[in-house]
Amino acid sequence: MGLNKAKIIGMGSYLPEKVLSNKDLEKIVETTDEWIVTRTGMKERRIAGKNEYTSDMGAKAALKAIEDAKLSVGDIDCILVATLTPDYTFPSTACLIQKKIGAGMVPALDIQAACSGYIYGLSIAKAFVEQNIYRNVLLVASEKLSSIVNYKDRTTCVLFGDGAAASVISSSPSGFSIESISLGSDGFQADLLQLPAGGSVHPASFETVAKEMHYISMNGKELFKHAVRRMEQASKACLEKANMKETDISWLIPHQANERIIDAIAKRFQHLLKEKVYKEVVRKYGNTSASSVGIALDELKKNQKICLNETVLLTAFGAGLTWGGTILKSV
Ligand code: UT7
Repeated sequence: MGLNKAKIIGMGSYLPEKVLSNKDLEKIVETTDEWIVTRTGMKERRIAGKNEYTSDMGAKAALKAIEDAKLSVGDIDCILVATLTPDYTFPSTACLIQKKIGAGMVPALDIQAACSGYIYGLSIAKAFVEQNIYRNVLLVASEKLSSIVNYKDRTTCVLFGDGAAASVISSSPSGFSIESISLGSDGFQADLLQLPAGGSVHPASFETVAKEMHYISMNGKELFKHAVRRMEQASKACLEKANMKETDISWLIPHQANERIIDAIAKRFQHLLKEKVYKEVVRKYGNTSASSVGIALDELKKNQKICLNETVLLTAFGAGLTWGGTILKSV
């Protein structure tokens, strides 16, 4: 356990104030609180203000994470931002966050791995830190999913919410040591979850707007099966890489997309007590895509006592398809 192993040394998250409850959704589309709770576990989600963007939420979470790490903004020497709802296609949201937090003229780039973005980002940050390329990497995950949700489509609009999470990754002696990471993708299933228009295939036009192609398009039933299978696979792969057994895991945080998916993953960790599987985020905030596991980790750390040497297994899954898992150890 050398000093050079990358660790998360500070965390923060930000959720917008406005709450969109299941009861509110009942007034917008043909749905019921009962359907949403039984099928997804979700009760509420947060919605960003009209003039509050992905970069604003990300900047707020970033400043909290830097403070939590007991660093100042000037100590950050690289900024990574995981998002599928950037402020613009370009410039990157990372550059906008660099400006908003007043960071130095340090490298800043966006990562597009959909809901797996936080774990993909951790893998890049870990590599940068462990290769001594950068000392203090700021990883932000931020999403304004309400900007691409069709609030006339009941099959998707009940699922998504806005929010941000941030972490500082460094080689300090204590924090959450990133023990192992496993990532994967399957572009053959790209059409299961996508934003059809706005890219080079279907640039914005009157037709793409008329056909409502600028909203999330999703095959929920198919995704459900892939989500369970891939998150189980990623979890086992990163256990193997870390030379650990299932019984070595103290806490489990699956991607907060659906409580039933979380429960299905949890079943694969039979020794884990129910209260060790974190699912508060899906209940309170819905699916916040890249931010989901980052918000959950921040809340877990603030609300529960995580003892020295305890481990947290994070796993995520999303459009692409992409998936990932990582094992963190409190040191
Ligand atoms: O973030 C990364 C990726 N995302 C996921 O991993 C999401 C994975 N999928 C899911 O979470 C679930 O498949 C959903 C929550 C999206 C849907 O749950 P489901 O149990 O698979 O429901 P379903 O799609 O099979 O729909 C069942 C019924 C349908 O009616 P019929 O065809 O049986 O008459 C839907 O039209 O429920 C209907 N339905 C609704 N009813 C009330 C769909 N959405 C709603 C709704 N309110 N909001």
